[in-house]
Amino acid sequence: MTKNIAVIRGDGIGPEIVSEAISVLDTVADLYGHTFNYTEVDMGGCAIDKYGDPLPESELKKCLDSDSVLLGAVGGNKWNDVPGNMRPEKGLLRLRAGMGVYSNNRPAKIWHQLADASPLKKSIVDKGIDFIIVRELIGGIYFGEHKTEGDTATDLLVYSESEIERIGRIGFETARKRRKKLCSVEKSNVLDSSRLWKKVMHRIAADYPDVELSDMLVDNCAMQIVKDPSQFDVIVTENMFGDILSDEASQITGSIGMIPSSSLGASDCGLYEPIHGSAPDIAGKDKANPIGTILSAAMMLRFSFDMAIEADAIENAISAFLDAGYRTADIMSDGMTQVGCKRCGEIIRANIK
Ligand code: IPM
Ligand code: MG
Repeated sequence: MTKNIAVIRGDGIGPEIVSEAISVLDTVADLYGHTFNYTEVDMGGCAIDKYGDPLPESELKKCLDSDSVLLGAVGGNKWNDVPGNMRPEKGLLRLRAGMGVYSNNRPAKIWHQLADASPLKKSIVDKGIDFIIVRELIGGIYFGEHKTEGDTATDLLVYSESEIERIGRIGFETARKRRKKLCSVEKSNVLDSSRLWKKVMHRIAADYPDVELSDMLVDNCAMQIVKDPSQFDVIVTENMFGDILSDEASQITGSIGMIPSSSLGASDCGLYEPIHGSAPDIAGKDKANPIGTILSAAMMLRFSFDMAIEADAIENAISAFLDAGYRTADIMSDGMTQVGCKRCGEIIRANIK
């Protein structure tokens, strides 16, 4: 198969981790007889420097014209003082909205080799950590009106029934393919938007009688994720709650550097990115963990290109990397062999072959 992939290297550690993921894709292409063409796209701080805009229309168009988009990370201290609507992150938000990718899937699964890297007690980890956060990605407070007037600032949180319903259905369908438990997370004791969320979730539940739906307030959920993560199968939640809970969930699996994500909308053209940021403090030092990005590339193969065997090959190669005792700095522990970003990619590629 031939696939055209838009590649956004971005800022900070973005270029290093994306290079490793592309080399892994090339290895897969050679081995399985595919052709992957790459189109470079500027987005984030680097695009601000080049064009004065974090995502010029021409760059967005390259993404919309592709079969899928692979993204490293954007942002950094250098652009902290630019106005809010021109920040590097704004490029990412415009990309997500422009692609219409409303459904963000963030797995929180512990690799058995990394059980020691979890900050949770062994007795909790041993009960199992394997859940998915389905995060609404193009609505809510991220996309409501933002304004500052004098000494007062406002950010508007808006959801319509149809926006809730489409992500709610993805939550149910995701749970249906797994352990059939869906937890809808909101703040219905305070927010109108959450009361609407809860109402819509219960209305559509009738279409999924095989899935058990529960409700949880977001503050309680934050607590339950560290108290007993084994209770969760699929969590569905709005944009900002999903942002916060997915960082928390990643940490209990050992490192945010290990977690990929997929973002999909109505078409097969998806956006694939690790959930971590651009980590400017370690950028250019060959210290970053490229596994979250490599796993994101595997998700692209699985969900957008229907290449499950190839995706399995990448995931198995990562498992073999960990089995052999290799660790990047973020997941390093006693008795293991520490490797940098490049070497990590090389070993994973060798394991694929
Ligand atoms: C994420 C990030 C982004 C978000 C930032 C960089 C805008 O934290 O993907 O989780 O808040 O969605
Ligand atoms: Mg985040």
